Amino acid sequence: MKCIEVKTDPSYNVWIGSALTSQIGKLLYPIASGHRVAMITDMYVDPLYGEEVTAAIEDYGIEVQSFPIMVEEKTKNLSTVETLLRKLTQENYSKDDVILDVGGGMISDVAGMTAALFLSGIRVVHMPSTLLAMTDAAIGGKAELNLPEGKGIVGTVYQPELVVADIDMLATLPEHEIRSGMGEIMKYAVLEDSGLYNKLLNHPARTDLNDLENIIWQCAQIKAHIVEDDPAGFGNRGLVRLGHTAGQAIEAATDYSILHGEAVGLGMLVMAYGTGNRKTGDKIKALLEKYDLPTTIEWPDREIISAALFKGVEDRNYEGTYSIVVPEAIGHCVRKKVSARELTLILKKGLVAIKHGKNQSGKRHSLRSFRRARS
Ligand SMILES: NC(=O)c1ccc[n+]([C@@H]2O[C@H](COP(=O)([O-])OP(=O)(O)OC[C@H]3O[C@@H](n4cnc5c(N)ncnc54)[C@H](O)[C@@H]3O)[C@@H](O)[C@H]2O)c1
Repeated sequence: MKCIEVKTDPSYNVWIGSALTSQIGKLLYPIASGHRVAMITDMYVDPLYGEEVTAAIEDYGIEVQSFPIMVEEKTKNLSTVETLLRKLTQENYSKDDVILDVGGGMISDVAGMTAALFLSGIRVVHMPSTLLAMTDAAIGGKAELNLPEGKGIVGTVYQPELVVADIDMLATLPEHEIRSGMGEIMKYAVLEDSGLYNKLLNHPARTDLNDLENIIWQCAQIKAHIVEDDPAGFGNRGLVRLGHTAGQAIEAATDYSILHGEAVGLGMLVMAYGTGNRKTGDKIKALLEKYDLPTTIEWPDREIISAALFKGVEDRNYEGTYSIVVPEAIGHCVRKKVSARELTLILKKGLVAIKHGKNQSGKRHSLRSFRRARS
C-alpha cells in the first residue's frame, strides 16, 4: 500500500493498494464519523462493489446510502447533477455529510461537481474504480461536465478530502477500459518521465496488478506535483492537457464513440506529427501499438478540425489563439499559443500523418478495426 500527500489547500492523502475496500470504513472514520455518507456510484459498479463498500463503512457505525446512476459522455451534464442535488435535498442531507463516489472518471466528475454545489460545498471522497480514474481523474480536484456545445466546458476545482484507490477493483475492469487507462498513463510517460516511458516499453504488455500499483503510484505522483504547483489551472496544469486538443476533438467529432484514453493517445500522436516532432511521434506510436491502442482513425479530418476549433473551448484564449501542448521529446513537452490557422495546419498535418501510418504488423490499425476487435 502506498500513500501520496497532495499538498494543495486543503491537502489530502491518496491511498493506492490492494484490499483497500475492506478498509474504507477505517479511512473514512475521521471524516465521516457522526455524519451520513451518500455513496454516488455507477450502475455497473454498484452490483460489483456497492455491498462490500457499504458493509465496510457500516462496520464503523457510519450510515451510508447508495445513489447508483448511469453516466456516459452525453449525460455527464448539469441535468444529471441537478437530479443528484434534488435527491440529496429530498433525503435531508446536510452540510456536514460526506459524498463518497465509487466509479470511473465519469462518476468522479459528476460527484465532484455535485459535492461542490450542494449547500455551497460538502466534503467529497473519491474511490476510483478504473485505471484512468486512479491515475488521473480522481486526483487534482477538477470536476468537469459537458454541454451539447462541447466537452469539459462546465467545470470547477474542488479538492477531495481523501482518495482511496483499491487496485483489486481493476480485476473486473474490461480489457478495453484497461487499455483506455493505459492511454492516460502514456500521457504521463510522455509528459514527465522518460523512465516511465522505458519501463512501459520494456514491460510485458499484459501488466499484472502488482505492476499496475507501481505505475499508478508513479502517475499519481506526477499529477499531484503538477496540481500542487497550479491547482486552479492557470499555468502549468495546462500540461495535463497533452493529447487533449486533438483527443477531445476526436471524441466530439465521433460522437464519443471512442474511449477517452484512446482519444488522448491519438491526440498525442497527432500533435507530435503535426508539429514536426516525428521521432517523438514514432516513440509514442510504438507505445500505443504495444498496448493495442488505436494509432489511426478513419474519420473526416475537417470534422475533427472543426470540433477542435469550435468545441475546443478549454484551449481557446481571449485573444483568439489556442493553447496547445507540444510533445517535443519524451519527458519534454511545452505549452504554446497558436492561431486558429496554425492549429488547423498542425491538425491537418498530424491527421494525414497518422492516416498514412502502418502498425508494426504492417496492417492499418484503425479505430474501426480496433472497435471490431473489442466486441
Ligand atoms: N476531471 C478530471 O480531471 C478528469 C481527468 C481525466 C478524465 N476525466 C474524465 O473521465 C471520464 C473517463 O473516465 P473512465 O475512463 O474512468 O470511464 P468511466 O467512468 O466511463 O468508466 C468506464 C466503464 O467502466 C465501468 N467500470 C468502472 N469501474 C469498473 C470496475 N472496477 N469493474 C468493472 N467495470 C467498471 C463503468 O461502468 C464504465 O462503463 C471522461 O469523461 C473524462 O473526461 C476527467
